[in-house]
Amino acid sequence: MRGRAVGECDLAHAPQSGAAPHVASVRWPVPALTDQDGAPLIDSTVPHSARIFDFWLGGKDHFDVDRSAGERVLATFPAMTELARCSRQFVGRAVRYLVEEEGVRQFLDVGTGLPTAGNTHEVAQQLAPDSRIVYVDNDPLVLAHAGEVLTCSPEGAADYLHADAHDPDRILAEASRTLDLDKPVAVMLMGVLAHIDRYDVARAIVHRLMQDLPVGSCLAIRDGTDTDEAYKTAMREYGESGAVPYRLRSPEEITRFFSGLELVDPGVVPCPLWRPYPDGPVAASGAAVPVLGGVARKLR
Ligand SMILES: C[S@@+](CC[C@H](N)C(=O)[O-])C[C@H]1O[C@@H](n2cnc3c(N)ncnc32)[C@H](O)[C@@H]1O
Repeated sequence: MRGRAVGECDLAHAPQSGAAPHVASVRWPVPALTDQDGAPLIDSTVPHSARIFDFWLGGKDHFDVDRSAGERVLATFPAMTELARCSRQFVGRAVRYLVEEEGVRQFLDVGTGLPTAGNTHEVAQQLAPDSRIVYVDNDPLVLAHAGEVLTCSPEGAADYLHADAHDPDRILAEASRTLDLDKPVAVMLMGVLAHIDRYDVARAIVHRLMQDLPVGSCLAIRDGTDTDEAYKTAMREYGESGAVPYRLRSPEEITRFFSGLELVDPGVVPCPLWRPYPDGPVAASGAAVPVLGGVARKLR
């Protein structure tokens, strides 16, 4: 166990509503997660987004079924691993920008994914140790690994909430135990809005999450877009794998998620082109990678 003990990181927040899973106590190694009837929560027979993404990133936290779904996508769209890597790099640059340029010290990261290099709290707390982060995901395997992402700096806080993005009221209510929602918060929606089937519902979730946050709060979004035929075909096949579908949206639709906010330069662009580090790796295919990212601030 590294740093702060997992048990101190308030995982008691995880099971709250009737439908939420029951976690008796969270220690590492994490006990088998079960629902209230004792049935296992982690289903290794159905592919899951977080685990497939882990496969594309070269991680180890996935099952055969996830690998098969991931390989099927790669067969149709071989650039998927590059897209996943560019996506994660965007997360790191966005967090760094939010800390250094916007002065944000609180993060609500919805659709956390499995722990990987450069998790939000690691980047933020390396720059500002007092940063406070609440992670939210609905995948039980992410819950099982939550302990790994909760080894936070003593000055800051990192918390994990097992919840569904479709329930922003619950997310905000429970996040308020760790975050002061009267102070600026950066809401991070990285690769999760495309899992919200209906566009109007996805927009409503974004609106609700941002609605009551104070001026100075920020929104960071990344999602795949529909500008590449092979990627579109691959994501159609992904939906047929049994995983929750990933709905590619147009650049205009992704940009509209930021309505009412001020987009910071360079706006909503392919992730490799969003504020690349001058000395960072040059993405040869830069503008061609069909994943868009943007950051905006709340002015009123
Ligand atoms: C493509 S992964 C991205 C992970 C991470 N944000 C990143 O950028 O690497 C999408 C994540 O969203 C989570 N997710 C999908 N639908 C969700 C929902 N309705 N509520 C909460 N999390 C969800 C998945 O479990 C997965 O961890």
